Amino acid sequence: MGTMAKAIFLFGIAFLFCINNVTEASRDLLQSGPVELFDVTKFYRKPTEEEVEYDEDYIPGSYYDAFAAVWDAACRNSTGSVKILVPKGTFLLTPIIFSGPCKCAKPIVFEVAGTIVSPTNPSLFPNAQWIEFSDIDGLVLNGNGVFDGQGGVVDNETHVSAWATNDCRKNKNCVPPSSNLRFGKVHNSIVTGITSLNSKWFHLHVFSCNNFTATDIRITAPGDSPNTDGIHFSQCNLVNVANSNIATGDDCISIGQGCINTNIHNITCGPGHGISIGSLGKERDDKSVEGVTVTDCTFTNTTNGARIKTWIGQSPGEVKKIVYENLVMNNVKNPIVIDQSYGSKTVRGPSNSLWKITDAHFRKIKGTTVSNVAVSLQCSSKNPCEGVEVADVDLVYNGDPKNKTLASSCNNAKAKFAGKLSPGACL
Ligand SMILES: *[C@@H]1O[C@H](CO)[C@@H](O)[C@H](O)[C@H]1NC(C)=O
Ligand SMILES: *[C@@H]1O[C@H](CO)[C@@H](O)[C@H](O)[C@H]1NC(C)=O
Ligand SMILES: *[C@@H]1O[C@H](CO)[C@@H](O)[C@H](O)[C@H]1NC(C)=O
Ligand SMILES: *[C@@H]1O[C@H](CO)[C@@H](O)[C@H](O)[C@H]1NC(C)=O
Ligand SMILES: *[C@@H]1O[C@H](CO)[C@@H](O)[C@H](O)[C@H]1NC(C)=O
Ligand SMILES: *[C@@H]1O[C@H](CO)[C@@H](O)[C@H](O)[C@H]1NC(C)=O
Repeated sequence: MGTMAKAIFLFGIAFLFCINNVTEASRDLLQSGPVELFDVTKFYRKPTEEEVEYDEDYIPGSYYDAFAAVWDAACRNSTGSVKILVPKGTFLLTPIIFSGPCKCAKPIVFEVAGTIVSPTNPSLFPNAQWIEFSDIDGLVLNGNGVFDGQGGVVDNETHVSAWATNDCRKNKNCVPPSSNLRFGKVHNSIVTGITSLNSKWFHLHVFSCNNFTATDIRITAPGDSPNTDGIHFSQCNLVNVANSNIATGDDCISIGQGCINTNIHNITCGPGHGISIGSLGKERDDKSVEGVTVTDCTFTNTTNGARIKTWIGQSPGEVKKIVYENLVMNNVKNPIVIDQSYGSKTVRGPSNSLWKITDAHFRKIKGTTVSNVAVSLQCSSKNPCEGVEVADVDLVYNGDPKNKTLASSCNNAKAKFAGKLSPGACL
């Protein structure tokens, strides 16, 4: 081989090596051709005195107009590769929808280095939405910036916080407060690096999305903040969530109705209510869930670990092809739960749910539990679970020392128990 050929060969090897090393996510961050930068601060215009005085929509300090303008310019008025930048700094932003379809090259990159802050006055939120991305094919939301929902901050006019006014646990017809980030019909997209802080409701609400990845994100809210699910999915196809840290007041991740092919990997969850499938069947038209894997996750001080929850339901539905594997539980209340009477007064009592659970596997789950019933499989008498496997579960009781019993409890579960088991199998 000549020197030149050798150099090209070595370059090729090095190049292949690099390609193999970048994660799928970061590979997609690479845009081809020159990238036009759209800095949101360049689109800020100081309001005139007249606007300040007479414009009813004028909110002191809001960057709404700048964000709306930068999105228009990048998404609609550009055909090349674009990157929107929210630089370091703090930006108050009233509710906004970034909607496509975009004319620019795919993907549109939205990089947040600063902190975007939500207002606290509920009258500014007509819908359950703060920042929404809608109808976009190819979005990269990245940077190490923060979306601060201010859920616990007392509003100066109403004198209450969004969390304090949330009565959704008691009031069925409550008006939910806003999610920090909503993604609707956002396809082939990646969310990475960002932090969602103190959302008023779900942190990330992802619906009707095909091929959505969230990786290396951080979600933070107190353990007692109401309905602050970390990421809630519904009607999605091909979802990946990985390498993220979620500490919040409700499910760290919940996989809702109509989701197909969801992969969750290397998540730390806690405080929170675990990584749940469901709840399903609350609404008549709730669709089945198929194909969920949850692997290599750690749960600390959570109320649940691996959970599948269905309501008795108004119409039939199915949950199938579920794998929870290689999980660590630290002081978790209900490490392994199937609850088919969710939402009814007799929680975890006998169920005659119209929903059927098939092919659900709980494998290699170890650590500590603070409840006596560490494995609870409460399936429907009408539709007994089928193909449930509990294998290599090694849990140690670490709760109230008055009762150190450790047990499994099963109803209509037809479960196969295998490998090392603590607690022991259902009889
Ligand atoms: C749209 O792009 C054209 C050409 O780059 C530019 O002259 C114009 O100011 C842009 N308009 C907006 C609203 O960004
Ligand atoms: C709300 O009131 C506090 C205390 O008076 C003040 O520090 C803060 O700036 C006010 N916030 C807004 C958004 O007006
Ligand atoms: C998912 O989206 C990513 C990012 O746009 C893309 O690279 C990948 O090919 C897509 N995967 C499928 C199966 O469409
Ligand atoms: C798991 O995720 C954490 C971030 O929460 C990251 O630091 C760590 O490198 C990831 N582990 C692997 C094996 O990817
Ligand atoms: C879990 O709870 C223990 C005891 O209350 C506390 O010391 C620890 O900091 C908690 N860990 C997390 C990750 O919340
Ligand atoms: C201990 O807990 C187990 C499992 O919940 C329960 O069946 C049993 O009655 C409890 N024993 C006492 C003495 O409370």
